[in-house]
Amino acid sequence: MCGIVGYVGPDPCAEILLDGLRRLEYRGYDSAGMALIEGTESKILRSQGKLTNLARLLSEHRPTGTTGIGHTRWATHGRPTEINAHPHKYGKVSVVHNGIIENHAMLRAELESNGHKFSSETDTEIVAHLVDDEVKAGRSPKDAVLGALRRVEGAYAICVLVDGAPDQIIAARHDAPLILGIGSGENFVASDVPAILNRTRDMVFLEEKELAVVRADGVEVMDLDGKPVDRKPQRILWDAMMAEKGGHKHFMLKEIHEQPRAVTDTIRDRISAKTAETFIDGFEIEIEKLRRVVFVACGTSYHAALVGKFLVEGLARVPVEVDLGSEFRYRDPLVSDSDLLVTISQSGETADTLAALREAKRKGARVLSICNVVGSTIARESDGVLYTHAGPEIGVASTKAFTTQLAALVLLAIYLGRRTGALDQESAHELIKDLLALPEQMKEVLDRGASVDVIARRYATARDFLYLGRGINYPIALEGALKLKEISYIHAEGYPAGEMKHGPIALIDENLPVVIIAPRGSGYEKIINNLTEVRAREGKVIAIASRGDNEIGSMVDDVIQVPDVRPELQPLLTVLPLQMLAYRVADIRGTDVDQPRNLAKSVTVE
Ligand code: G6P
Repeated sequence: MCGIVGYVGPDPCAEILLDGLRRLEYRGYDSAGMALIEGTESKILRSQGKLTNLARLLSEHRPTGTTGIGHTRWATHGRPTEINAHPHKYGKVSVVHNGIIENHAMLRAELESNGHKFSSETDTEIVAHLVDDEVKAGRSPKDAVLGALRRVEGAYAICVLVDGAPDQIIAARHDAPLILGIGSGENFVASDVPAILNRTRDMVFLEEKELAVVRADGVEVMDLDGKPVDRKPQRILWDAMMAEKGGHKHFMLKEIHEQPRAVTDTIRDRISAKTAETFIDGFEIEIEKLRRVVFVACGTSYHAALVGKFLVEGLARVPVEVDLGSEFRYRDPLVSDSDLLVTISQSGETADTLAALREAKRKGARVLSICNVVGSTIARESDGVLYTHAGPEIGVASTKAFTTQLAALVLLAIYLGRRTGALDQESAHELIKDLLALPEQMKEVLDRGASVDVIARRYATARDFLYLGRGINYPIALEGALKLKEISYIHAEGYPAGEMKHGPIALIDENLPVVIIAPRGSGYEKIINNLTEVRAREGKVIAIASRGDNEIGSMVDDVIQVPDVRPELQPLLTVLPLQMLAYRVADIRGTDVDQPRNLAKSVTVE
């Protein structure tokens, strides 16, 4: 989704901004631009498509400004054209914006009736017009932005440059992340930490409805009434190197291989092998009061939530509901203070998940979040956070964030199970022992990627795929299908295997590859029946099976084996070949694996 980078300092900043935007490319975008102060006025450079087009413009124009703002846009209002790319300049004011101005139509009509002419189709351009009116009325840049924002409803992270005030950027946020990077004699603004992490590690996270005046020699933070707020910088400890490809062809491949390490980091320090208990970072759940756990998430994180239902109901015997953020927030959900809401989000910025969190809090629920990005909005607004510690995930298609969410959910289920009494100490001991052995088993699966390669080659030209699973592996069928469609653009559906006869069976013929997740455990015989039904209709079957299952091979076209583990832990292994299959198919088809078309890493609009 859209990215913002800003700089004020002694150096010409076009390259600094471009570099920052490149580091945000992973969020997904379809046009880019920057505004740079030349003399006392800002000049705008914008282009449709990838950043290489903007880089070409920079090499033609060679701007020298030392104050500037840059943006990558992911189209929401108005097509992905150069005219709609940010920054938008009107009069003396240039603006970049992430989010959506909800009352833009009304404001635009009003401004037009006062003689304003608009050059783009965007909601963002409204802000430039409103601020310019305030500047014309004699207000300082800061007061002009404060005045304009009083009229704006919706979500925004904005940066504004005003001609005649070349030494400052005005930045503000509401429902969209924005951070300030504190340097020495230079300061930065960005929508996400990786954009500027190679320049400074000291970051100020703006809170909701705050504005900052950013100059080379310092930053001033205030609320939207102009009242000063004291915000101390936080030091970011993770390394910029963690956000580099490290010799892999794509970030996604690197992140797939990082999973054993990432899962170790999730579980490390949160387990007492002695008492067979787990800890969720100081967060205590009042178990006597707890009636229900409600998981809310979007995308891949929603699939983790579905696995979470099996884990928490199975191990703790607490009723669980799972919902999508976009559904939960609008259905006047029944939640109360006896519910624990657990939001799951890699980025911690997904608008629908955040809105669901606020709705549940308003209704009195306590909120725990399973989140990867430290200091993100969801993390900050939750009562407790279980950080997954996966490290930065750059590939748009989520991999290590997912498996670390699963590991965090196992920790949560053990925590609850030990407190409800549903999980006795001995069983918890065994489960913890198996959990600790899992990263090594994940590595084994990943090291045997060659078999996936052969399968990927065979089916890379297929038009559709079907993924089937049962029980705790049903969400993995959904996730396998999602991975494939996200990055290879092949149509894929995930289905609970028992439902196949109620619809998808009609699709099966000799051209349909069907991936069946069939590890040993309860439901194994049933899924073998489903497998035979597919074969009887000449579908091609790729089975994910347990090591040691020597029978399944004769019934299917291809088998990928994974170590035989207890059902609760199977998803952490069965998903790995599916990630690799999606990756290999996409790579063979030559798609943009890390930044698939139309998708965004962090969806900060609803
Ligand atoms: C986007 C990403 C997905 C992600 C989903 C939820 O659609 O492309 O990979 O699963 O958002 O994101 P979150 O950051 O809340 O987990």
